[in-house]
Amino acid sequence: MFSPVVLGALAALLPAAVQAMPASTQARAADATANPYTGYTIFKNPEYVAEVQAAVQQISDSSLASAAAGVEDVPVFFWLDQVAKVPNLTTYLAAADAEAKSSGSQQLFQIVVYDLPDRDCAAAASNGEFSISDNGQANYENYIDQIVASIKQYPDVRVVAVVEPDSMANLVTNLSVQKCADAESTYKTCVAYAIEQLATVGVYMYLDAGHAGWLGWPANLSPAAELFAQMYSTTGSSPYFRGLATNVANYNSLTTDSPDPITSGDSNYDELLYIEALSPLLVDNGFPAQFIVEQARSGVQNIRSAWGDWCNVKGAGFGLRPSTDTPSSLIDSIVWVKPGGEADGTSNSSAARYDYHCSLSDALQPAPEAGTWFQTYFEDLVSGANPAF
Ligand code: BGC
Repeated sequence: MFSPVVLGALAALLPAAVQAMPASTQARAADATANPYTGYTIFKNPEYVAEVQAAVQQISDSSLASAAAGVEDVPVFFWLDQVAKVPNLTTYLAAADAEAKSSGSQQLFQIVVYDLPDRDCAAAASNGEFSISDNGQANYENYIDQIVASIKQYPDVRVVAVVEPDSMANLVTNLSVQKCADAESTYKTCVAYAIEQLATVGVYMYLDAGHAGWLGWPANLSPAAELFAQMYSTTGSSPYFRGLATNVANYNSLTTDSPDPITSGDSNYDELLYIEALSPLLVDNGFPAQFIVEQARSGVQNIRSAWGDWCNVKGAGFGLRPSTDTPSSLIDSIVWVKPGGEADGTSNSSAARYDYHCSLSDALQPAPEAGTWFQTYFEDLVSGANPAF
């Protein structure tokens, strides 16, 4: 621990954005420029552990069941996809705090902030609970305030957040969709609010940056870099806004020697190539971003008919395990963000949140609502796991 005198001396060396923080947060910010995963044990998302345990009970094949049981050891992000889930966050942070005290190893908890008004503006499967026309911005700010209040109670638990999957990527490429055009300014205001508020309690944030097959196309790289850098500067260039998350809930490989045919025409055919292409543009725009890369469902490649297919893709397998051993110093960690086994969207064409992608020929059917358990999909992910469990 640093003494107050040493801390005072340290504070003088810190960037202005850090010096502007309250003293308690400032103490935590002393190493805010380092990889947040280093030196911490990831506290497992209890909800996913419970889902996996229940799923294992339903598997009669004993070798598949024992492989499936291994999945519960992998740390997966906790998705705050509704404001009603915030009390669960408090419960899990309390458990992580207790674990740190009893084990003596520092704990880190991973969350996804995912409740924008008019969420999932270019698709239908993950439309959320708030709408812009019905007090959406105020409801979102209240959601963020509740998360901040929860995290503030456990200053010793480090929190890493993926911020708003798909939101900025939709603003880069989908403004021709009326719902996205109408949401543009609200998305930016709400995401900025989330970043500024979460920084006050020392949450390390990675804003979602789509994936190689979305923003990685050469024509999209510069507009994407400009938007991300704009979000960084308008929110005060906080060291807690650590960088960007890629491939969230998607299926792309981190690196590959044999590009999937669907990537044809994109020189950035895997996540590492995408990150290496985006990074210098971000730096040029003043954002020295670091990255985390999702690999939960990337174990099997060459399974999609088109690169834009994202819903319950058939034949997918669990992928590389979370690790800070990564192929580039730009990548803080390989992560599992999507709880593999939770559906991407329903294939029921009469459901309110039906999206046609979920009944394409490469989508496993019948599929339940987004976020609910899809047992056959989970079993397929286990069977296809690469590396195997
Ligand atoms: C769903 C969320 C869910 C998340 C993780 C998203 O597609 O919309 O409700 O929490 O996936 O499974």
